[in-house]
Amino acid sequence: MQDKIILITGGNDGIGKATAIGLARMGARVVIACRNMEKASQALIDIKKESNNDQVEALHLDLASFDSIKNCVENFNTRYNKLDVLINNAAHYTSYLQKTAEGFEMQFGVNHLGHFLLTNLLLPSLQAAEKPRIVNVSSNGHYSGKIDFNNLRGEKSIKKYYGFEAYAQSKLANVLFTREFTRRYPDMICNSLHPGGVATDIATKNAVGLVSNVWSLVKPFLMSPEKGAQTSIYLAASPKVNKINGQFFDEKQKIRKPSRLARNDELAKRLWDVSMEFIYH
Ligand SMILES: NC(=O)c1ccc[n+]([C@@H]2O[C@H](COP(=O)([O-])OP(=O)(O)OC[C@H]3O[C@@H](n4cnc5c(N)ncnc54)[C@H](OP(=O)(O)O)[C@@H]3O)[C@@H](O)[C@H]2O)c1
Repeated sequence: MQDKIILITGGNDGIGKATAIGLARMGARVVIACRNMEKASQALIDIKKESNNDQVEALHLDLASFDSIKNCVENFNTRYNKLDVLINNAAHYTSYLQKTAEGFEMQFGVNHLGHFLLTNLLLPSLQAAEKPRIVNVSSNGHYSGKIDFNNLRGEKSIKKYYGFEAYAQSKLANVLFTREFTRRYPDMICNSLHPGGVATDIATKNAVGLVSNVWSLVKPFLMSPEKGAQTSIYLAASPKVNKINGQFFDEKQKIRKPSRLARNDELAKRLWDVSMEFIYH
């Protein structure tokens, strides 16, 4: 991975940080894009130390704000003239209704729409690389997801908000985005994945209630972030993926059939069109 430039969203914690360490160990130049620069600074120290690679940098990125995403891409472009691999890894899980700066329901806004804007703005940098790859970290949670086009701003959630339902919707959006991106840009390699059940704080840091309680109970039995990063690293770096496009992979780096909705081309196109409308109007 020498000479490769890789950007990882949410590379300061959990699976993203472990992915950064793994790819930096292979000699890549890694940029972690993070919302909290204090956490990012500490993560930089750890990633450099554990990978024995000093070519690791942090950029500020809050996926809950279009302005922040645009600034991040501008900063990236002033430093680098290409992007070999974009890993859309960051995610926000919450048990109560929160909104992004533009008023979208937070999980849809961060996990899908923020990455949708980021990827579109980074397209010229990706196209400047020889064999660009995009890795979208989704989840098996997408199997229970549906896209409710009438609730993307949390319109129906004023009385009752189901955190896991919104998470599943956002993770289904990651797989649909992968499908439609592949159709539109067949020359790039774009895949999505489920990393496995991984012992991170995703379900507890911004959440309370049943899902968080169950998460705290099972967390000691889940796999390490290092193991959970293996499919992201594989999709970013393995020559075996050179000709595989638009697929959904599991934690063992095997192709899996995603949900029926995730294989619906019309739904993928509609989500793309609606997302375009949201980011440019
Ligand atoms: N853990 C699992 O078992 C599991 C299972 C299936 C799928 N996944 C997926 O794996 C990916 C990584 O999750 P994880 O388990 O490693 O969770 P994590 O440790 O909480 O990491 C999530 C990362 O996303 C960042 N993030 C959240 N909101 C953001 C925003 N608005 N802007 C920029 N960055 C933001 C977090 O930043 P902070 O550090 O500032 O919070 C953190 O760096 C996610 O896409 C998740 O859906 C995880």
